[in-house]
Amino acid sequence: MNNNKGFIDALVGLQWGDEGKGKNIDELLSHGTYHGVARFQGGANAGHTLKHDDISFIGHIIPSGCLQKDIELYVGNGVVVDVVSLIKEITELKNIGFDVTPRLFISNRAKLVSYMHPFLDQAEEHYRSKGNAKIGTTAKGIGPAYADAKARRILLIGDILSIDFMEKEQNLKEFHMNLLDMYKKNYGFEYSLEKIEEARKRWLDSINELKKLEIKICDLSYLINQRLNAGKNILAEGAQGIMLDVDFGDYPNVTSSNTLPANICLGLGVSHTYLRNIYGVIKAYTTKVGGGDFPARITDENLEKLFQKAGNEFGATTGRPRMCGWLDLFALRYAIQLSGVNKIFINKADICLSERVKVVTEYKKGEETLQEFPLYLNQVTSVITEEIPGWGNANFGVKEKKDVSKELASYLKYIENKLEDLDVSIVSVGTGPNREYSFNWKD
Ligand code: GDP
Ligand code: IMO
Ligand code: MG
Repeated sequence: MNNNKGFIDALVGLQWGDEGKGKNIDELLSHGTYHGVARFQGGANAGHTLKHDDISFIGHIIPSGCLQKDIELYVGNGVVVDVVSLIKEITELKNIGFDVTPRLFISNRAKLVSYMHPFLDQAEEHYRSKGNAKIGTTAKGIGPAYADAKARRILLIGDILSIDFMEKEQNLKEFHMNLLDMYKKNYGFEYSLEKIEEARKRWLDSINELKKLEIKICDLSYLINQRLNAGKNILAEGAQGIMLDVDFGDYPNVTSSNTLPANICLGLGVSHTYLRNIYGVIKAYTTKVGGGDFPARITDENLEKLFQKAGNEFGATTGRPRMCGWLDLFALRYAIQLSGVNKIFINKADICLSERVKVVTEYKKGEETLQEFPLYLNQVTSVITEEIPGWGNANFGVKEKKDVSKELASYLKYIENKLEDLDVSIVSVGTGPNREYSFNWKD
């Protein structure tokens, strides 16, 4: 028996995305525990910001270990890969001194996002807007790509190396054009053939570029299992957040993949027996981009705008302003329970603009206080909040627990008490975008 096998830890967002996962992954990878970092779901809808003293980078497809030269980077079979975005990121990284190609491994079973998927994404949003139910997707083609994957017609990354690739591509294009025509005929969706051709050219150029690079397109499950057998540890990087999970999030205002750690095994091809710590990330408040209800949203518009500005709450992928809300403990407890998180990172503890902050503790449906998370968030008619003193912006850049303002310390203790029965502990608290700006809460 091999008792010296490695393990897999994971880090996932516990809210509606943009919790600061990229920063925390980058930080966790800096301690020498992990050999590589793996994306297991999602695609270029993700935007993970990395900031060091002299560099900043936003990763959409490439895992957040790209600025650490000894870390292997894996893109699993569960990911829908936008090749244009991938090549753009590789080039951007090269321009700032990081040639990631020798340490980048992509599963041959990862799904290839087609240039048609973003058009179909727009067409579906157009259709939904008729019923006033736009999701507000990132328009990266994520929904149509996962739909094609489930319908067993998507191309795989491994297909780009096969001789009948162009024929397969042509067949799928025909199918997609028929779909677009259906949206045009039945729902008045307009598209431009010229734009489609431009997108196709960019896509084919990127595929040719990808084939020339030194990147390994391989059986990634085999490779990761080899690493684990050799005693190497892997960190799995969640994209989006638990509240955007396709099964357990606020359906249908979710993304099209399972963001839960349960999906790590399927998205990488590894056994659950390797999973060890599941880290969860939250902001000290909550943000959300896109459609759907947001029970914890700050109702004072001016205050929400202040949070947006101070927290620089604009999407890393689309630039859209993020809605801001108070910390939602009801949703957080649900997310922790679903994901099995045992350690929590809290980011943006340097941002607080009100003298008193609110925390959502319960959801109500009419007179009833909900025990279970509702089927649809629009069933929530009001929320119960508690109010505690705010902490201003006194904590920016704090690196040691002893320097934390007493108000922030009591906020953290308050959260800890509220989560006590769930066996989670707050391990570290972020006080700035740079990965060094954080302090250990647990000594
Ligand atoms: P991700 O998608 O979860 O990786 O998060 P994003 O990169 O989309 O958004 C997080 C934003 O918050 C980025 O602009 C980060 O630079 C920034 N950020 C992360 N942690 C902190 C923090 O503790 N304080 C502040 N002020 N900014 C932070
Ligand atoms: P990271 O990894 C925040 C949201 C979109 C939309 C819904 C569906 O950076 O946290 P999609 O394009 O996936 O079909 O959009 O999900 N969304 C995100 N929101 N952060 C993200 O990723 C997101 N990825 C998707 O705004 O509401
Ligand atoms: Mg993001």
